[in-house]
Amino acid sequence: MKKIHSRFSVARGFLIFWTLFIGIGAVAGAACMLIKPDGSLMGMQGLLPYFQVLPLAEILYQDYLFPGIALLCVNGLPNLLAAALLLRQRKAGVALGGGLGITLMLWICIQFVIFPINFLDIAFFSFGILQAVTGYAAWVFCRQEQFTVSAADYPHIGTNPKRLVVYFSRMGYTKKLALEQAEKTGAEVYEIQTTERTAGTLGFWWCGRYGMHGWAMPIKPVTVELSCYEQVVICSPIWVFGLAGPVRSFCKEAKGKIKSADFILTHHTRMHYAGAAREMERLIGSSANRVISVSCPLGKQTGIAVF
Ligand SMILES: Cc1cc2nc3c(=O)[nH]c(=O)nc-3n(C[C@H](O)[C@H](O)[C@H](O)COP(=O)(O)O)c2cc1C
Repeated sequence: MKKIHSRFSVARGFLIFWTLFIGIGAVAGAACMLIKPDGSLMGMQGLLPYFQVLPLAEILYQDYLFPGIALLCVNGLPNLLAAALLLRQRKAGVALGGGLGITLMLWICIQFVIFPINFLDIAFFSFGILQAVTGYAAWVFCRQEQFTVSAADYPHIGTNPKRLVVYFSRMGYTKKLALEQAEKTGAEVYEIQTTERTAGTLGFWWCGRYGMHGWAMPIKPVTVELSCYEQVVICSPIWVFGLAGPVRSFCKEAKGKIKSADFILTHHTRMHYAGAAREMERLIGSSANRVISVSCPLGKQTGIAVF
């Protein structure tokens, strides 16, 4: 059986690395400070004067006991907990692991204030950035891979042969809106299929290339007779501030064949992308009755504009 490539698994693997790397390092450092609070195990005796600029220094920073406890509780144990959660496939590990990247950056900010600028602080600040970014990527990929939509959940689709909903969708977000629209009116549904690679990370960049140039992406032959329908709703994602390449090809083929058109545009941001709707009108050769512009980052609808 072909193994499905999971971007979440890759990001999760990297996050486990970061949480273990930072967690084990912090626990080891904290252990050295607690075993020898004078800092002699790590050759840090000479650094204590730098801590004296911190609040309550006369109580907390006369040796490495408090810094050791703080290191253990802030960076050590929480990172190991995040690693354990990630290894046990718990989603909380993603949020905790990513959040601890920010914690590490804040910790190093304190070190930036008290120590002269040095290589180790810069390196660990960079590790914090990488850990936080890895956590965010894992969270996004997890949401993307868990997003599912099935035509079986929309029983009224296809009960009204006078209406058609056409869509192209990479991740399923536009598909969901298309199916919801068809469910409301009983319309039939047609999926535009492209012959190019659109799935996964490479597919994303390939689509971006088409989007950037405003190119039409080759599609499989259109198998619906568009002139048979009283109303056609065309649903398109936005690619690089414009129309998605496969929908551009479809609209070209649909020129002069659609009696009455509506458009649904889906995108990540809160912009309306009226320019994409105008391009669709130009390509099909007629004006839309209604354009619905939906922001749906990661498939969650956060805004809608109708014009
Ligand atoms: C190559 C590419 C470029 C994109 N450019 C934009 C953009 O400029 N603005 C925006 O809001 N969303 C942009 N997006 C996000 C998609 O429009 C959005 O995630 C859409 O809901 C995806 O629908 P789908 O899952 O049905 O393909 C882009 C997505 C891709 C793949």
